[in-house]
Amino acid sequence: MRLLNPFLTALALTANNAQAAPLFDSLTTFFSHLTSLPPSSQPGHLDLTTPSTDPTGLSTLSSLGSSAKSVLSKSQAYLLVINASPFLLRKQGGHSYQMPSWDGAFPNEIQPGESVRVKVEAKGQGDDAGEMAYTLVQEGLDVITEGVGLSWGDIEFQYRGRDGPKLQVQFKTLAAVGAPVGSVKVLEWHQGNNVPFVLSAAPSAGNLSAGVTSMALKTFDSAKQLVASPGLSTAGWMRQGYERMHCLQLREMALPGTHNSGMSLLTGGTPLVRARPESVQCHASHMTVGKQLEAGARWFDIRPVISKGKWATGHYTFFNGIPLPSGLDKVPGLGDLAKEIGKIGGGDDQKLMDGWQGGNGQMIADIITELNDFTSKNPGELVVVNLGHGLDTDHFEGKNETQARLSQEQWEGLMTELLRVKNRATHIGENIDLSQQHLFNLLPPLDPSQPNGPNRRSTVLLVVDDKTPDNKFVSVDKFKHEGFFYRGQLAVFDSYANTNKLNDMINDQFGKMERHRTSADDGMFLLSWTLTQPVDKMITGTIVRYAEEANRALGEKLWARGKMTRGRFPNVVSVDAFEDDGEVLGVVAGINWWLARECPVLGGDGCLKFNLPS
Ligand SMILES: *[C@@H]1O[C@H](CO)[C@@H](O)[C@H](O)[C@H]1NC(C)=O
Ligand SMILES: *[C@@H]1O[C@H](CO)[C@@H](O)[C@H](O)[C@H]1NC(C)=O
Repeated sequence: MRLLNPFLTALALTANNAQAAPLFDSLTTFFSHLTSLPPSSQPGHLDLTTPSTDPTGLSTLSSLGSSAKSVLSKSQAYLLVINASPFLLRKQGGHSYQMPSWDGAFPNEIQPGESVRVKVEAKGQGDDAGEMAYTLVQEGLDVITEGVGLSWGDIEFQYRGRDGPKLQVQFKTLAAVGAPVGSVKVLEWHQGNNVPFVLSAAPSAGNLSAGVTSMALKTFDSAKQLVASPGLSTAGWMRQGYERMHCLQLREMALPGTHNSGMSLLTGGTPLVRARPESVQCHASHMTVGKQLEAGARWFDIRPVISKGKWATGHYTFFNGIPLPSGLDKVPGLGDLAKEIGKIGGGDDQKLMDGWQGGNGQMIADIITELNDFTSKNPGELVVVNLGHGLDTDHFEGKNETQARLSQEQWEGLMTELLRVKNRATHIGENIDLSQQHLFNLLPPLDPSQPNGPNRRSTVLLVVDDKTPDNKFVSVDKFKHEGFFYRGQLAVFDSYANTNKLNDMINDQFGKMERHRTSADDGMFLLSWTLTQPVDKMITGTIVRYAEEANRALGEKLWARGKMTRGRFPNVVSVDAFEDDGEVLGVVAGINWWLARECPVLGGDGCLKFNLPS
């Protein structure tokens, strides 16, 4: 369970705020290139830390020569190809024009389950171009295919300088779900960093034995069984994958999640936060809960607060005389903010922060509307809303973080408002362990006369995970037939790393995953892929880009050799700065299609029958 550590949880990560971001955006980019230009043979992940002698990076920035700056004008990125399928990807060849790194950077083969990182560099001109084709091969059919395997067709990676830099994938003679032959999927360009592309299919899709080619050709239909991401429908991915996943328990599958899901915009707050909204904003302004749903997220961390008598989401920190670093007013661009801090804190030399600071995000009423819009338009999707960290911001005066919690009565008021959420899981009985429910039972049939068919309703699970000021767990007893559940019914190991260092966070989370997940039906594990700024960095911090950089590392690190197995993978991949690029979903789709247990043919023998839990 996530500990309440208010000093260190508040600090957050935004995108798209013009005020403080540009300075640090360029710094991040600089340091990406300067601190560790990876050798092209074995590129490591880019190190983003600034030198300890120059934590703001300002001196380093001004001392950079023009040659260093010219690094930035090149178009450079790493195509991250994740092959989460039982097929071999074999290089067919390609060509390029004005590409210092392209042809030779692609490996001859990408094995099933393997990920590779291909350095892509162009001169930065409009006519830069590159193509590289791969064919999807079924090995082990050498008797019939004379040692070359059976080919299922080609995809081509393409670089285009025009209107670019741009990386894209053309489905030349190979189709995938939602990607017909001939279609082109443009990948989101990330200068100097990973651009992921994931191909996924179930292990049995490649389970064709020698001597049955004519049958085998019928068996694998890439347009239905091969998932390419980007390319998968982000709003309807569970419905698209229902045949693949229907038999899985929640603890046997993975969901994309968002951290502090309501904090995509600021609807009110204390002075410091109004001066610096990006200190509480975890997602870009346009990425409301509704947009996160459409972009594929299915697990939401909703932190309710009462503010002027209304229910909002909030992100607040209780400061207990925290000293701030001196000289803030000398940091260019932060003069006004330093004055703001001066008002809050003590004297000029040693400024202290006391009491509550924070802000409100989306209103709960708006989130309910967005949930209802989404589930009515998109049947067949499972949505988990985890409610915790509640606060009464209308009575903060003199109260610490325990005393400012919501009372049982206030929680019941909130649950009453949440009765407006449609598609609650009222069909699930009390005292049920949700993590052991199969997707089949969680999503009721759309047509009751077809209880075992593929067409399902959407379901929203409302899980309450909080304590009252007298330290008792919030009771959902009055709402237990209304689709509200205790966190104990959906137990998830969720412990964040509490660091702003990317590598430390990754090691912490992988260590926890190794300890808590040794088989696919172990209790659920939430991968908390978030960086937490220490208090002093919160003020001057590089916050926005940190979250985005962490997200860039996700596919590369999670799919590194041996990190995940069929028995060990996260059930929730929780991030800040969730975007609509489909990248987190792609990483999760790889888990659900390639690593998760396989299901019997829907409706066939051995299939589960829809059965309302008692
Ligand atoms: C592949 O087929 C064999 C023989 O039918 C079976 O034993 C094995 O479990 C199958 N593997 C997968 C991944 O379905
Ligand atoms: C909050 O204040 C109450 C009353 O003074 C005290 O009992 C409690 O330990 C405090 N809690 C924290 C987390 O400081």
